[in-house]
Amino acid sequence: MPALAATDVVVQPAARLGGRLTCPGDKSISHRYALLAALATGRTTITGYASGADCASTLNCLRALGVQIAQPGDGLVEIEGRGLGGLAPPTAPLDAGNSGTTFRLLAGILAAQPFDSTLTGDDSLRRRPMERIIAPLRAMGATLHADDDRPPLTISGGSLRGVEWAPPVPSAQVKSAVLLAGLHASGATTVRESAATRDHTERALSGFGIDVERLGLTVTVRGGTPLTGRAVQVPGDFSSAAAWAIAAAASDGSHVVVADVGMNPTRTALLDVLRRAGATVTTEIDRAAESEPIGRLTVAHRSLRPVVIEPSEVPALIDELPLLAALGTYPGAALTVTGAAELRAKESDRIAALVAGLRGLGATASELPDGFTITGGAVSGGTADAAGDHRLVMAFAVAALGAKRPSTILGADAVTVSYPDFFETLTSLRA
Ligand code: S3P
Repeated sequence: MPALAATDVVVQPAARLGGRLTCPGDKSISHRYALLAALATGRTTITGYASGADCASTLNCLRALGVQIAQPGDGLVEIEGRGLGGLAPPTAPLDAGNSGTTFRLLAGILAAQPFDSTLTGDDSLRRRPMERIIAPLRAMGATLHADDDRPPLTISGGSLRGVEWAPPVPSAQVKSAVLLAGLHASGATTVRESAATRDHTERALSGFGIDVERLGLTVTVRGGTPLTGRAVQVPGDFSSAAAWAIAAAASDGSHVVVADVGMNPTRTALLDVLRRAGATVTTEIDRAAESEPIGRLTVAHRSLRPVVIEPSEVPALIDELPLLAALGTYPGAALTVTGAAELRAKESDRIAALVAGLRGLGATASELPDGFTITGGAVSGGTADAAGDHRLVMAFAVAALGAKRPSTILGADAVTVSYPDFFETLTSLRA
């Protein structure tokens, strides 16, 4: 057997999981609070800032744009806002690392700055499509260039005009890039979505004092209004909690409680799917922090049933589909997903790499052009390559918990992108 690399992890099967936990701060919300804080006037104090590498990339890019940021520890981030139009020209390309959210949201802001900048990222990010932000930002008046529409992206920013944009693929990142550019543009900027995506930007903008008009799937901002620095709290990340919700749903006798987790309804579609799969799911909303509901999620195993995910459900479940595939490998379960070709444009090709990895663990899985099918049954255990993708590490770990023998996840260190303590938490939940 080949020797394990330092980046590989062996996952032992688990009879069941049990316990109470909290998750790291929400990645999507952390990015947005940091970016808006940089554009605001005055100081913003963020508590519960996400601990993963992606949100560190956002802070590093902001520092390179002249923003003063202190991190005294324990998830506390203090940002001195530079005001709309106050960012300084960077002296080198801005590196978003693995983070598509950093890249696309920051592109919206840079498109409005009166200086040239270049955004780049790691090997994975440099393979991801950027035409989706280039087109609306050009329509607003910025000059952007990327070979083959892939990073690096050069931006010559300047005066922007408001636009009405209907993204061809539902994407909160695209919506947010356009709205952030719209903060600096003349007149109104409107995004018309074809399906609802996470609305953290809209909520965060309101919190920082911007008038956001929302009508069904349409959102409008008007440029030129200053943002005001403030104290904000980031809830626990629902997409991280999803790993434990799904692991608890999967194995007999499991019962997990996740406290202080974000319960924004644009993120929690997974809970209905878990109920359809047979699990017992209860939620309680404890409070709202900066218009983001925070609550407690309890999931317990019951006999599993096959589930079909319809294309219309995909936008609200996009980050949870790999973990749901892991659930599909358990006895009694099965999963069919269609209408999810967008998964091929994530941190990895999440259809090809997911199916290959689950097969490596002994599962019955097949690719579809726009999704996959998984047939439940006891997984033998084996080896799965995470393809540098944090969400695949978690999905393979959850599938491996139900295997007959230990499994190896290659490149498991990718989990640090969103959940550095994932494997420590897993150990603590083994009953
Ligand atoms: C995110 C939006 C989604 C999601 C990503 C985070 C965000 O991407 O998959 O993990 O924070 O706006 P898309 O906008 O590409 O769908």
